[in-house]
Amino acid sequence: METWGYDPTDVIPRKAFLVWQKVGGQVIGAFDTEIPGAPPEGSAESLVGFVSALPGIKSGDGAPRPYLHSHMMAVKEGYRNRGLGVQLKLAQRKEALEHGIRLIEWTFDPLEIKNAFLNIHKLGAVVRSYLVDFYGVSSSRLQGGLPTDRLVAEWRLDSPHVEGILVGRALSALVLEEQIRVPAAIYDWKATEPGREQALAVQMENRSKFLEAFSRGLTVVGFVRDTEGNGIYELGNASQLELI
Ligand SMILES: CC(C)(COP(=O)(O)OP(=O)(O)OC[C@H]1O[C@@H](n2cnc3c(N)ncnc32)[C@H](O)[C@@H]1OP(=O)(O)O)[C@@H](O)C(=O)NCCC(=O)NCCS
Repeated sequence: METWGYDPTDVIPRKAFLVWQKVGGQVIGAFDTEIPGAPPEGSAESLVGFVSALPGIKSGDGAPRPYLHSHMMAVKEGYRNRGLGVQLKLAQRKEALEHGIRLIEWTFDPLEIKNAFLNIHKLGAVVRSYLVDFYGVSSSRLQGGLPTDRLVAEWRLDSPHVEGILVGRALSALVLEEQIRVPAAIYDWKATEPGREQALAVQMENRSKFLEAFSRGLTVVGFVRDTEGNGIYELGNASQLELI
C-alpha cells in the first residue's frame, strides 16, 4: 500500500505469500539491520524491500518445464537507487538456479522507464510479448488511471547473454530494426489529471508499435536512456543474443 497506493481489494493477503513459499515460489526480503533495535534476521520494522514469485509451468514445444513468475518488487522510497532492486533480483536468480529453475518471467508497465532500464539494461531480460490491459482496472497510484498494459520480461538465468550482462561484459553491436521511445515527462503526465491524456496517447501509440513489432517476430534486445532521461526500447532479432 505504501508503494503502490493500493486500496485493500488489490492487496495480496499474507496467507498467499506463505502458500507461494510452500509450493516452490519465493518471498525474499531486504532488511536494514542498522535501524536501532532491528534484529539481525530482519523484522517487519526493518523490511526495506521485497520481491516475490509464483511457480509456473511452461508448456509448448518439448516437455513441460518449471519456471518462476515474479510478481511485485518494491524498495522503500528512501532506499531506492542504491542497488537494492538489483540485489533482490540477484537473490531471486541464485535461489532459482539452486533449484534447477532457469527462467524467471514478470510483467512490467512499458511506460516505466526506470523499470525497463533495470529489467533490460541491468539484468539482461528480453521482451517479446505485450499484454493489453492485463489486470483491468487497478487502484495503483503508479498506474495513473491508465489501462494496465504490460510487457513480459523473460530472464534466461544461466544464458551467456544474462551472465555477460551481470559481469559487465560489453555487448557486441546489435543490428536494430526498430526503436520505441518513452518521453521522460511520462512520470509527470501519469501523476496529474491534465497530463493523463498525453500519457494515454503515448501508451496507445507504443501499444500498436509493440504489437506490430512482436507480430513481425522482433524482440526487445536492449534499452537505453538519453541525456534527457527519455527511454528507448531497442528491437531486433533475438538470434543476435545468446539466450540458451
Ligand atoms: C523498481 C524498484 C524496485 C527498483 O529498486 P531500486 O533499489 O531503486 O533499484 P536499483 O538501485 O537496483 O537500480 C535502479 C537503476 O535504475 C536507475 N534509474 C533511476 N531512475 C531512473 C529513471 N528515471 N530512468 C531510468 N533509470 C533510472 C538507477 O540509476 C539504477 O541504475 P544504476 O545502478 O546503473 O545507477 C523501485 O524503484 C520501486 O520500488 N519502485 C516502485 C514499485 C515498482 O515499480 N516495482 C516494480 C514493478 S512491480
